[in-house]
Amino acid sequence: MFIEAFDNVNEASDITIVEIANAIAAFEGTECRNFDSPFDKYLEGDKTAMNSAQKRGMELFYGKVSCSNCHSGPLLSNQSFQALGLPPLGPGRTLLNDLISRDVGRLAVSDDPDDAYRFRVPFLRNVKQHQVEQRNGEPAAGSVARIRRLRTA
Ligand code: HEC
Repeated sequence: MFIEAFDNVNEASDITIVEIANAIAAFEGTECRNFDSPFDKYLEGDKTAMNSAQKRGMELFYGKVSCSNCHSGPLLSNQSFQALGLPPLGPGRTLLNDLISRDVGRLAVSDDPDDAYRFRVPFLRNVKQHQVEQRNGEPAAGSVARIRRLRTA
């Protein structure tokens, strides 16, 4: 299969982590997508595809509650890094110069203190199809409620 898929692979020993990562990415790029949700049908012009509760949720998402400030674009993420103040659950990880294990978010990569506890906005596209948990292990619904409280406090 790898020989057929990759021009540069002629035998098993030619397969490196690059070919494996590309194979997994190609699989996820085609198999793990779903474009037939009521929301997709609505976007395609079928105004009856969503029921009234779904439409109210969409109006809140894009309107008053402003979820789309961060969850926007084709994948429903603007790819920014945001500090929501969610407490971490697990031990985090240790870094080269910081042996106390903690999850400091983007700071661990950028070394910029402004990035402390900022995490990339996850995609919400197909969110129904995957396990929805925050980085801190809390079910997303709890966090959504908390975001709402924070925004309205
Ligand atoms: C300020 C930017 C921002 C806003 C506004 C925002 N989110 Fe998020 N959202 C995030 C970030 C960042 C995370 C990841 C948090 C983490 O893992 O610590 C997240 C996580 C989520 C998740 C979990 C997704 C997954 O795959 O685990 C859901 C669901 C979600 N948000 C829905 C919403 C909804 C609904 C709203 C509006 C009520 C909203 N978000 C508003 C930034 C935002």
